[in-house]
Amino acid sequence: MFHIIGTGMYVPERIVTNDELSTMVDTNDEWIKQRVGIAERRVSTEEWTSDMAYKAALAALENANCKPEDLDYIITATVSGEYVSPSTACMVQKLLGATCPALELNAACSAFLFLLETAAGLFARKKANKILVVGAERLSGIMDWSDRGTCIIFGDGAGAAVLESGVDGYLDSVVTVQGNDEVIKIPTNIGCSPFFTKENDTPYIHMMGQETFKYAVSSICNDVNTLLAQNNLTLDDIRYIVPHQANKRIIDFAAKRLKTTEDKFYMNIERYGNTSSASIPIALDELHRAGKLNPGDYIILTAFGGGLANAACLIRW
Ligand code: UT7
Repeated sequence: MFHIIGTGMYVPERIVTNDELSTMVDTNDEWIKQRVGIAERRVSTEEWTSDMAYKAALAALENANCKPEDLDYIITATVSGEYVSPSTACMVQKLLGATCPALELNAACSAFLFLLETAAGLFARKKANKILVVGAERLSGIMDWSDRGTCIIFGDGAGAAVLESGVDGYLDSVVTVQGNDEVIKIPTNIGCSPFFTKENDTPYIHMMGQETFKYAVSSICNDVNTLLAQNNLTLDDIRYIVPHQANKRIIDFAAKRLKTTEDKFYMNIERYGNTSSASIPIALDELHRAGKLNPGDYIILTAFGGGLANAACLIRW
């Protein structure tokens, strides 16, 4: 039905090391490297989410040899846009000078897979020939920088892909949501209504680390096994599993439980931390540009996060 014809990414220049973080909260480089696998992350100093989305989109369009006017849809995902409206998708359309419809969705860290699933519907209806999908985040703006349980994990960045109809590269998917606002949540600003009587938490990322960790390992394993069984494949048939980059130990546990080795999983968490909806398209772009994906390779993308939403898909490159 569709395949990926180009990828792109963008991360801000400013690097924040674990040592720099340890001057802000009670943490240290050794703990973060051992327990999470992150050495540094990027933090935006002047770019909004849509600026980063635009730069990743430009890179993907160039990689796909496409122009903005070739696009039939732009779909973005974020939890950290500068506006609720216009959406990041509308801002990317404006910055690119494109004229196609543009819409945004929110499925937290799993959102890139929801973008592919949404695009699949548009392709199936023959409403599009080319779709740009972008996951972009300025999580530094929604983090509590005094909370060492979250501020050491997240980073800013954007990843994008251009999808084209015609070739069957999106083979199968699994999507699961269990509505839950206890394990991970990002409250919105409560506003200033003089009529509203309830209170809310601070408008930053709140996360129960260990619960998220357990949920992450089991959702990766369940989703990967479901895709393999549904498609009569084994892990030997899969060139790479590209997981949401949340914690290196989550990947280690999942690899062990799936009876495979870590090198089956592509990882770049050491350099960027967890960039939520941008993490999978950034990883995909790095793999693609490094020449590590060959036509015909099977890849599994797998993600989990706030919602709680988890998803995975099987792609033939
Ligand atoms: O994309 C959304 C999905 N998010 C995730 O997948 C995140 C999943 N969860 C995690 O990655 C991990 O749970 C964390 C990285 C958040 C925390 O790691 P953990 O191994 O679960 O640590 P913990 O909360 O069990 O804490 C262990 C110890 C505690 O000390 P005591 O009580 O054993 O003395 C914590 O106080 O480590 C301490 N600790 C820290 N020490 C230094 C917790 N955070 C830190 C820190 N630096 N940043």
